[in-house]
Amino acid sequence: MRVIRKNSIMQKVADRLREEGKSIGFVPTLGALHQGHLSLMERARRENDILIISIFINPTQFGPGEDYKRYPRPFEKDKLLARREGVDIIFYPSVSEMYGKGYSTYVEVEKFSKSLCGLFRPGHFRGVASVVCKLFNIVKPNVAYFGQKDYQQLKIIKRMVEDLNMEVEIRECAIVREPDGLAISSRNSYLSSQERKEALSLYKALKCVKSLIKVGSSISDVVSEMEKIIQRESHAKIDYIEIVDPLTLEDVKTIRPGKKVLVALAVWIGNTRLIDNMLVRRM
Ligand code: PAJ
Repeated sequence: MRVIRKNSIMQKVADRLREEGKSIGFVPTLGALHQGHLSLMERARRENDILIISIFINPTQFGPGEDYKRYPRPFEKDKLLARREGVDIIFYPSVSEMYGKGYSTYVEVEKFSKSLCGLFRPGHFRGVASVVCKLFNIVKPNVAYFGQKDYQQLKIIKRMVEDLNMEVEIRECAIVREPDGLAISSRNSYLSSQERKEALSLYKALKCVKSLIKVGSSISDVVSEMEKIIQRESHAKIDYIEIVDPLTLEDVKTIRPGKKVLVALAVWIGNTRLIDNMLVRRM
């Protein structure tokens, strides 16, 4: 396994691999690798000749006052996990390598960036789309893997790839959860043991409304039931609970029989902001 820190070297290596006819599978990450990341890597390993991951804590996707500085950076442990997963190359650039002097180009995906997390984290998806575009230009993957855990991010990346005619295929991977149901996230490590218990309320709320939606409850009943479950926890503060069309991310007014909706939520547990979602079909 090789660690590459320079854009120009990564590009040359990718060019050579593509000339040799190898398919490059790519998993971009912020590092602090966990089972969610590993599931993407496992699949990319299976489906490609070469597996490249990136570890880059992208400053442009963090807002002022967010956790950029304290985001975990366990690079040695990440290397061990990556090696065990059969990663061929870790692309591990510095901030100055990615954003040189005079840097001034950003990608804005207008359609999906303004709702849900976009409302609460202005500029976040502009930072995400820009860095993923850059990473695609540097790593030159045939296929890139993204998790449904960040459903809105996934939609934005797919839109960008289509709109900008990028020659990379995006594959979606299911959310990986802890045995009790909490969606795995690098940010879970911020939670105290009491907060960890309270964090389970996101999954509990999703699981409960799944059965309500299936039998045709109204949107307002579904949302208020979710609010009740979450507001029971003393450290919880809801940013949003939304029921949207999974294709457009627009609000759904009524859930017709046979219709699939995305239930998405963002909740602060103490100082940690957690997101989760579930795709549910009404019977
Ligand atoms: P990060 O949060 O490190 O996540 C990297 C990838 O792992 C994303 O595609 C994310 O959806 C996926 N992932 C995280 N937790 C998951 C889980 N529990 N189950 C399944 N997949 C999971 O998302 C980012 O980094 C960044 O925004 C990035 C795309 C790297 C751009 O900087």
